[in-house]
Amino acid sequence: MSSNRAIAYKGPGKVEVIDIDYPTYELKDGPGVNPDNVGRKLPHAAILKVVTTNICGSDQHMVRGRTTAPVDLVLGHEITGEVIETGPGVEFIQKGDLVSVPFNISCGRCEMCKTRRTEICLNVNPDRPGSAYGYVDMGGWVGGQAEYVLVPYADWNLLKFPDKDQAMEKILDLTMLSDIFPTGFHGAVTAGVGPGSSVYIAGAGSVGTAAAVGAQLLGASVVIMADMNAERLENAAKFGCETIDVSKEDPREGIARILGREEVDAGVDAVGF
Ligand SMILES: NC(=O)c1ccc[n+]([C@@H]2O[C@H](COP(=O)([O-])OP(=O)(O)OC[C@H]3O[C@@H](n4cnc5c(N)ncnc54)[C@H](O)[C@@H]3O)[C@@H](O)[C@H]2O)c1
Ligand SMILES: [Zn+2]
Ligand SMILES: [Zn+2]
Repeated sequence: MSSNRAIAYKGPGKVEVIDIDYPTYELKDGPGVNPDNVGRKLPHAAILKVVTTNICGSDQHMVRGRTTAPVDLVLGHEITGEVIETGPGVEFIQKGDLVSVPFNISCGRCEMCKTRRTEICLNVNPDRPGSAYGYVDMGGWVGGQAEYVLVPYADWNLLKFPDKDQAMEKILDLTMLSDIFPTGFHGAVTAGVGPGSSVYIAGAGSVGTAAAVGAQLLGASVVIMADMNAERLENAAKFGCETIDVSKEDPREGIARILGREEVDAGVDAVGF
């Protein structure tokens, strides 16, 4: 097992499947890798065969040339996979485990991780706190839109599905656990959604949809989804959301039409750019 293939950024509007190295327990130089990370030993890592992965709205920012992503950066931070091998420092995760990989790479050992702020882990990106797979300015960790990917601090980062067969039956849903679902849910939580809330969600993409489902789980009485994409709004209506097509209606007027007043209790921005 010495070969590996992955999807790489090749410049604005262009991605390509390329051959890359099979992962090893040492960080190598590559596009976007901070020199201080080169040669770093990773006995705590696991190597995964990727089972499912998603394209994130955040990948579009790179692919559409809105960032300084370097050419040949391997994309992909939404990874679900099967553990193929583990480093000598891995104690609990085992070969054969089916796992979800949180998109934030974190060490589990620093002050931030110990206070549950894994998105600003101090030990994984020499440039600044916080890191992710396959993302510009995130330390140069190789992405998971690939056949095989390395996950550091495996015991800490990996979420093991307890029943592999059961998980495989729902794998296209469970693949949302690595980023889309928790991101949307987090948006609803931090917006303060609770029982009875009225909620406005800008953007009916995957993250907005997860925020809407999250708001429903948190007890919202009305969830309004806004977009200019008719197909996405149709999807939102299917699971009980009110909708506003912002290409045809001012959001404020749409909110007043639905709620009888111009305010909502909570709002989530799931557009970004
Ligand atoms: N953890 C994180 O911080 C995290 C994780 C995932 C995604 N994101 C970000 O969340 C955003 C959404 O991600 P996604 O995957 O759902 O992207 P997406 O591109 O699939 O969805 C965005 C939607 O917003 C709609 N839109 C554009 N302008 C709008 C406006 N003014 N009002 C209402 N809708 C509008 C678009 O038509 C599109 O359907 C992206 O910016 C992405 O980078 C952040
Ligand atoms: Zn993402
Ligand atoms: Zn940490």
